Amino acid sequence: MYGPVKPAGSATQSSASQSSARVKVTVPAIVARKGQRPIAMVTAYDFTMARLLDEGGADILLVGDSLGMVVQGHANTLPVTVDEICYHGRAVVRGARAAHVVGDMPFMSFQVSAQLALENAGKLMKEGSFESVKLEGGVEVAEHVFRIVSAGIPVMGHIGLLPQSVHALGGFKVQGKRAEAAARVLRDAKALEEAGAYAIVIEAVPPDLAAQITASVSIPTIGIGAGAGCDGQVLVCYDLLGMYRDLSPKFAKRFAELGDAIVEATQAYVSEVRDRSFPAPEHTFKANNFAVPALIEASEGLPEPDTQVH
Ligand code: KIV
Repeated sequence: MYGPVKPAGSATQSSASQSSARVKVTVPAIVARKGQRPIAMVTAYDFTMARLLDEGGADILLVGDSLGMVVQGHANTLPVTVDEICYHGRAVVRGARAAHVVGDMPFMSFQVSAQLALENAGKLMKEGSFESVKLEGGVEVAEHVFRIVSAGIPVMGHIGLLPQSVHALGGFKVQGKRAEAAARVLRDAKALEEAGAYAIVIEAVPPDLAAQITASVSIPTIGIGAGAGCDGQVLVCYDLLGMYRDLSPKFAKRFAELGDAIVEATQAYVSEVRDRSFPAPEHTFKANNFAVPALIEASEGLPEPDTQVH
């Protein structure tokens, strides 16, 4: 059981986060980063991870529908619902001190009509506590983006490989390799910019194309598998940390091997439970020095003593 939570700013914070107070990252601040210091975006799905990623300096936390794969264990992102994005969003927002928090619009929450897109974007903002929303697509969703932006909700676009179209694409495949396909991705970027998107994720396209798009639009581009020429980068946190081992996309650099560390820590725990070396005396609460039956008899009717667990 978890005991009382110490207030933010107490000794639970590391010295790193105490010494480097960060300024809240807003949509205008993200837009102002066009062509400037690259934007570091990463996915997050829960409070603890959001706290750590925020402390690590991430500018943007995305509650991506990738949670369908890395949290829920599905083969793709299609089953994820608006309610699930909202549930994870509330947790991530509580963990994010400075990072901007974006909610992904899941499959079929926006494709049907601009009206439905607006209603679900509003739901993400109200029930997920998000600060902006992201949706997949280009020309075909430009009107939807316009309607959402007109309602005062900032929108991040997403072009190139669209994981919600995995079946139409025949798999998670690189996009824009041929001239005609590349021109289509560029048109998508322009349509999103005109519709009022404040940034665009470009997924799995050749780096030259991503760089050309970046040079052609006035809003920041955030690449994933799109080379270093974008205005920022995004990774799924479980890829970055080496925890998701079912798929390993070429572009997903693992900056740590926490998956191995978790397995090793669990093995050590299991072993200490089995040989009774855990819990040790330092993990155990002390009683006053009298026998347990006498203790029970003496305490009958008395209130439970107030022992702090943490
Ligand atoms: O759902 C997601 O995590 C995403 C990012 C990978 C861009 O869309």
